[in-house]
Amino acid sequence: MISLRALTSFSIFLGFVLADCECGYSIATGPGDGEYIFTDLLESDFIHLDLTDGTPAYGKYGWAPQEFDMSSEVARGPYGEAFTPQNVISNNIADAQTFEGPGSKGGDAGLHLVVDSEIHDGMVAGADIATTVPQYYHGTFRAGIKVTDVPGTCGAFFWYMNDTQEIDIEFLSSQFDKSNNTFPVNLVLQSKESRDAGFDASKTDSFRKVNLPFDPTADFHEYRIDFLPDRVRFYADASLLAEMNGTGVPSTPGNLQLSHWSNGNTGWSQGPPARNATTTVSYVKAYFNSSLDARQHDYRVRCKNPEAPRAVCAVPDNNATFFFSNMRNMTMNQTAYRQDGVGSSGAGQTTQEWSLPLLAAALGACAWVIGL
Ligand SMILES: *[C@@H]1O[C@H](CO)[C@@H](O)[C@H](O)[C@H]1NC(C)=O
Ligand SMILES: *[C@@H]1O[C@H](CO)[C@@H](O)[C@H](O)[C@H]1NC(C)=O
Ligand SMILES: *[C@@H]1O[C@H](CO)[C@@H](O)[C@H](O)[C@H]1NC(C)=O
Ligand SMILES: *[C@@H]1O[C@H](CO)[C@@H](O)[C@H](O)[C@H]1NC(C)=O
Ligand SMILES: *[C@@H]1O[C@H](CO)[C@@H](O)[C@H](O)[C@H]1NC(C)=O
Ligand SMILES: *[C@@H]1O[C@H](CO)[C@@H](O)[C@H](O)[C@H]1NC(C)=O
Ligand SMILES: *[C@@H]1O[C@H](CO)[C@@H](O)[C@H](O)[C@H]1NC(C)=O
Ligand SMILES: *[C@@H]1O[C@H](CO)[C@@H](O)[C@H](O)[C@H]1NC(C)=O
Repeated sequence: MISLRALTSFSIFLGFVLADCECGYSIATGPGDGEYIFTDLLESDFIHLDLTDGTPAYGKYGWAPQEFDMSSEVARGPYGEAFTPQNVISNNIADAQTFEGPGSKGGDAGLHLVVDSEIHDGMVAGADIATTVPQYYHGTFRAGIKVTDVPGTCGAFFWYMNDTQEIDIEFLSSQFDKSNNTFPVNLVLQSKESRDAGFDASKTDSFRKVNLPFDPTADFHEYRIDFLPDRVRFYADASLLAEMNGTGVPSTPGNLQLSHWSNGNTGWSQGPPARNATTTVSYVKAYFNSSLDARQHDYRVRCKNPEAPRAVCAVPDNNATFFFSNMRNMTMNQTAYRQDGVGSSGAGQTTQEWSLPLLAAALGACAWVIGL
């Protein structure tokens, strides 16, 4: 006779998951290094998601275009920066299965972040979007980006808490040189050390300028930040570009942001651009541990046995068309921020609407890496 107790342990031994990935999403960072598991996700498919659709409930899809000015003094350039929601343009493809080609407004499909060439009132208009909940703690953060080829702007994909807790990937279009195939990307941890160096991270060991093995203006590529407990890793198309450790590694949760701007600073953004410059974002995928009590509680309830088959799902590398949230049952109990009619919907997915006041905009990113 089999006791109930034996039956129970038998089913635990077999493993039992209600839905795939209920215990999270994993990355393997390389030989000799372990696996990291993250409990939550944010997947934003900007080819199909209209961030600026007719009902602009604040932060509807977990993101909000930012509106704020930085004076030239604060921006530390000859011009100020005017971050303008109108310079954030969703250029979508209607067919949910199509991921490449022109959007409905012409030009590359995706989220256009535009820097204007014309100066108004001493300000250069640019674009910035930020996540609405600063819950992004350790995680792997990925963005598909095609960088402008118009010289004179700074485009950034970054994680931001404050000016000494910040992880940046920054493209300076004036640094690109097609004639000798030189396309650098600037990788930065803004830390107490960079603050002490006058916010010039280049004077610290948490700044690297790395040449990309491709032309980032010719096509979309995946840029990736892995924010791990003891280090930060930067990747392009799944190839490691740099690793940084030490006291510059942030110790708090923060927000994700994408921005595109110019202030004419000859040491950094240069510009303004001679014509409107567009950097296009095709997606952001974030797999992360949330700092929100509610999300941590949900995880503990949802995750019965992390050892069970399919309880943890491996995050594919550099696949622009793969979204867990387009698969059945792989995002149960996640906040999926879906747009009606796009993709299939799995059980337990919730679309959450946020109605917070506009975030106090971050001053972050490239502005502080000056005087090079
Ligand atoms: C998801 O998985 C659960 C448990 O296996 C199942 O009951 C449900 O029908 C699945 N839902 C979908 C949409 O496949
Ligand atoms: C994320 O949170 C889960 C659940 O608490 C934990 O098991 C995992 O180790 C955490 N991941 C990292 C990289 O700290
Ligand atoms: C540049 O952007 C501004 C503001 O959005 C717009 O008025 C202007 O027509 C644009 N210029 C070009 C050449 O598209
Ligand atoms: C940023 O946040 C960290 C952690 O909360 C704090 O120690 C640090 O002083 C903050 N830095 C600034 C510039 O506010
Ligand atoms: C490419 O050319 C630029 C401008 O002439 C020069 O500054 C840069 O050092 C060159 N890069 C390489 C790798 O040769
Ligand atoms: C930090 O990185 C350096 C250079 O890659 C390495 O030599 C050092 O061992 C690392 N320190 C820790 C604590 O991982
Ligand atoms: C990328 O993901 C899509 C969608 O799931 C899949 O059809 C395709 O086979 C994947 N590509 C690669 C190279 O794995
Ligand atoms: C997750 O499931 C719990 C329990 O059913 C529920 O209270 C919570 O709202 C769900 N969270 C999300 C984001 O769906």
